[in-house]
Amino acid sequence: MGTKNIHVVIVLFSLIGIETISVQIQATPSEGILGQNSLQLRCSYTTVTGEFVTGASIQAKINGQFKTIATFYIPLVPLNATLTTDGNYLTDRVTLTNPTSSSSDSALMQFSQIECEDENEYMCQVAYAGSSGSTTSNSGVVNLSVTGYPEQPKSKPVHIPSTGIEEGNNVVFTCTGNVGKPQGKFRWVRYRRNSNGTTIEETSYESQNTTAIEIPANCTFHGTSQLTLKMEQLDNNAIVRCQVAYQDIPQELYQQTNPINVHYSVRNVEVTKSPNTPIFNEGAGPISLTCTSDGNPFVINTGYTWYKESNTDVPLGTGAIYVISNVVKTDSYICVAQNSFNGQTFNMNNSIHIQIEISFTTPNISSTQTETDFTTPNTSSTNIATVFTTPNTSSTNIATVFTTPNTSITNIETVFTTPNTPSTNTDLGTH
Ligand SMILES: *[C@@H]1O[C@H](CO)[C@@H](O)[C@H](O)[C@H]1NC(C)=O
Ligand SMILES: *[C@@H]1O[C@H](CO)[C@@H](O)[C@H](O)[C@H]1NC(C)=O
Ligand SMILES: *[C@@H]1O[C@H](CO)[C@@H](O)[C@H](O)[C@H]1NC(C)=O
Ligand SMILES: *[C@@H]1O[C@H](CO)[C@@H](O)[C@H](O)[C@H]1NC(C)=O
Ligand SMILES: *[C@@H]1O[C@H](CO)[C@@H](O)[C@H](O)[C@H]1NC(C)=O
Ligand SMILES: *[C@@H]1O[C@H](CO)[C@@H](O)[C@H](O)[C@H]1NC(C)=O
Ligand SMILES: *[C@@H]1O[C@H](CO)[C@@H](O)[C@H](O)[C@H]1NC(C)=O
Ligand SMILES: *[C@@H]1O[C@H](CO)[C@@H](O)[C@H](O)[C@H]1NC(C)=O
Ligand SMILES: *[C@@H]1O[C@H](CO)[C@@H](O)[C@H](O)[C@H]1NC(C)=O
Ligand SMILES: *[C@@H]1O[C@H](CO)[C@@H](O)[C@H](O)[C@H]1NC(C)=O
Repeated sequence: MGTKNIHVVIVLFSLIGIETISVQIQATPSEGILGQNSLQLRCSYTTVTGEFVTGASIQAKINGQFKTIATFYIPLVPLNATLTTDGNYLTDRVTLTNPTSSSSDSALMQFSQIECEDENEYMCQVAYAGSSGSTTSNSGVVNLSVTGYPEQPKSKPVHIPSTGIEEGNNVVFTCTGNVGKPQGKFRWVRYRRNSNGTTIEETSYESQNTTAIEIPANCTFHGTSQLTLKMEQLDNNAIVRCQVAYQDIPQELYQQTNPINVHYSVRNVEVTKSPNTPIFNEGAGPISLTCTSDGNPFVINTGYTWYKESNTDVPLGTGAIYVISNVVKTDSYICVAQNSFNGQTFNMNNSIHIQIEISFTTPNISSTQTETDFTTPNTSSTNIATVFTTPNTSSTNIATVFTTPNTSITNIETVFTTPNTPSTNTDLGTH
């Protein structure tokens, strides 16, 4: 009926060349944010000469039909703007302001709190008296949309299994929380970290599904997302983050797991020697062997056991460091490293070859020499020159001569026999 009247008025004024009242409705901003209050519905009108506004109302669509939710009065009418019965749901959430003029002003509805039901279509209707009598004019329709910010997930992602995770296990991570309105989603990020806690690899999983249900109370969405990762050695100490992405933008809203403990069997067993020389002289100083390994749990000191390859029945000792104090015989030294978890024990070994040669520091003796005569220019009683000769002289037989210029008898520590050399062929000469 109102529309009909407007048409009549338009036709009327068109005929005499005068425009009629204009009515607008505006929402600022047009998007309400749940829980916030910056939103204002403004119904404004401008009359032309001869028109006199008598009242205004804001209407909202209720059950498919526009119904008046608030009534406004002009200054001449000493009444405060009020909510109607249909607008009762807005009680205590809006402030209504009457226009102050009947010719060109606005009726205001200021929201102090936005709720889901405020997402609606709104219209303004102005009642006025004109040359054709009392009538109404409607504004266009404004749509108010309501969005809800997502929230930080309330708890860390849970994962199953939660403890005793082994390399190769599939672990399922689950994250839940308010993903906002319109419905956002969760993205996942795995941070692989070294033992220092420094991130060495970052992998994001964007395409994981987030299933969400709308929370009736506040029309935001409660989302759930799961990520399954097969745990590798490098995932030990990793952190898995569940992050909210809202309107496709990752938000600073996330929770992450504690560092994940991924058990793995001992590996990368390495043995090093110190001093690191390829060949040791018989009787040389102690050789220190060090065994290192990787594993989680790491190999404790007593988890290292040493053997000689020539006799793996009898362990030489335990500990990450083994010292060969009696350097007499070439052999390989095996380090067996062991760790255990979840009731299983794991072993891994490696060895190092220790080459020991019967050789002595000789003053300018070439290997082809079989016999050497020498004099000690300054003989003292403690100076000992030892000459070994072998009767079975082939080019490969080496006669070794050494001097101990500054030794007492007890400092001759090396005793050796050359297989083909009878003891009578050994000369021990003192000059
Ligand atoms: C209008 O509202 C004001 C403030 O809330 C109040 O003081 C005044 O009495 C009200 N007037 C009428 C006519 O209800
Ligand atoms: C307002 O929203 C309704 C329902 O979603 C839609 O049919 C209509 O076209 C919208 N109007 C405007 C002006 O956006
Ligand atoms: C750990 O940090 C220390 C000091 O910053 C550094 O020297 C070392 O290389 C780091 N270790 C690893 C495995 O990155
Ligand atoms: C994710 O959702 C899509 C579409 O609903 C579905 O086709 C797909 O199987 C889902 N993927 C997973 C891992 O659940
Ligand atoms: C919506 O409801 C959920 C569940 O009650 C709550 O966690 C969330 O904070 C609410 N969001 C808003 C914007 O009120
Ligand atoms: C070292 O490892 C090999 C291969 O696993 C194994 O056969 C051998 O028995 C191990 N040696 C010792 C001493 O444990
Ligand atoms: C012999 O000894 C001298 C002095 O120590 C040295 O300079 C020279 O290189 C040596 N010769 C050989 C063949 O070892
Ligand atoms: C010989 O030895 C004596 C005593 O050890 C020393 O005093 C002297 O200087 C030495 N002579 C030579 C030529 O080395
Ligand atoms: C002789 O041996 C002694 C004891 O081992 C040592 O203190 C001294 O420095 C040595 N002298 C020489 C010349 O090597
Ligand atoms: C001498 O050496 C040769 C070759 O090394 C060996 O065959 C032979 O038996 C040796 N002779 C003696 C008497 O040891």
